Amino acid sequence: MDVIAGHLYDFPKYYDLIFGSDWKAEYKFLLECFDLWARRPVKRIFEPGCGTGRLMIKLAQAGYEISGLDLNPKAVDYCNKRLAKYGYPESAFIGDMADFHLKKKVDACFNMINTFRHLPSEAAALAHFRCIADCLNKGGIYVLGLHLTPKTTQQCTEECWSAAKGNLTVNSRLWSIGIDLKKRVERIGMTYDVHTPTQQFRIEDETAFRTYSSEQMQALFDATPGLKLVETYDFRYHIDWPIEIDADTEDIVYILQKQ
Ligand SMILES: C[S@@+](CC[C@H](N)C(=O)[O-])C[C@H]1O[C@@H](n2cnc3c(N)ncnc32)[C@H](O)[C@@H]1O
Repeated sequence: MDVIAGHLYDFPKYYDLIFGSDWKAEYKFLLECFDLWARRPVKRIFEPGCGTGRLMIKLAQAGYEISGLDLNPKAVDYCNKRLAKYGYPESAFIGDMADFHLKKKVDACFNMINTFRHLPSEAAALAHFRCIADCLNKGGIYVLGLHLTPKTTQQCTEECWSAAKGNLTVNSRLWSIGIDLKKRVERIGMTYDVHTPTQQFRIEDETAFRTYSSEQMQALFDATPGLKLVETYDFRYHIDWPIEIDADTEDIVYILQKQ
């Protein structure tokens, strides 16, 4: 099989097939969070690090006014083309989630599946929360999902998915190459095997995520005026099953409310 060294984010069609097929639980959970935790009706929503907009399109179809930003122009282009195809404004734009300002404030923001961990430094993480606090209306919420680095043994070190649509099949594998807690970097290896009737090739990628303990996350929240942590969930995405953080906690979804 041919091997291409590249970034999955530069192949939005394959990204969207793999991650886009897994939208239902997150989507339902987001709607339930808007209902339960926002202290205002949620109409306008923003996604920093929106990628292909797999959740944005579903929210647009449900009648929300959505927008998003991403560093990757290919992902933004893919997202906008799909929004336009279904008759919605091309509301994704290229930008940095640590440095943005929205002209119109929003009622909710969300950032799922470790996207936040792409921010490389404490300064960038802090700047991100300040941008979020700035763009939320009072009573609005931020839903933030990521993997913490547990104090006990890391349980989740490899994940595999497979997704198919028409003639296209993508099999993916993600694994943790190693964690440097001093530098606060976790290296992630990825392969995506792409099969079409005429081609078969592998994309090999590596990315870095910043590591976080629950205390390090709490310190960021404490340093962000106007954002208050109101609840924690996990990747089961069940609104009736909030979690208590302990030494084993890995996947977590924070609900932050703008005061
Ligand atoms: C794991 S993908 C998630 C995409 C989308 N949020 C989703 O749930 O499918 C992470 C995305 O974050 C984007 N990204 C990484 N660093 C970023 C930054 N500093 N500002 C904006 N986007 C960023 C990447 O380009 C990529 O599209």
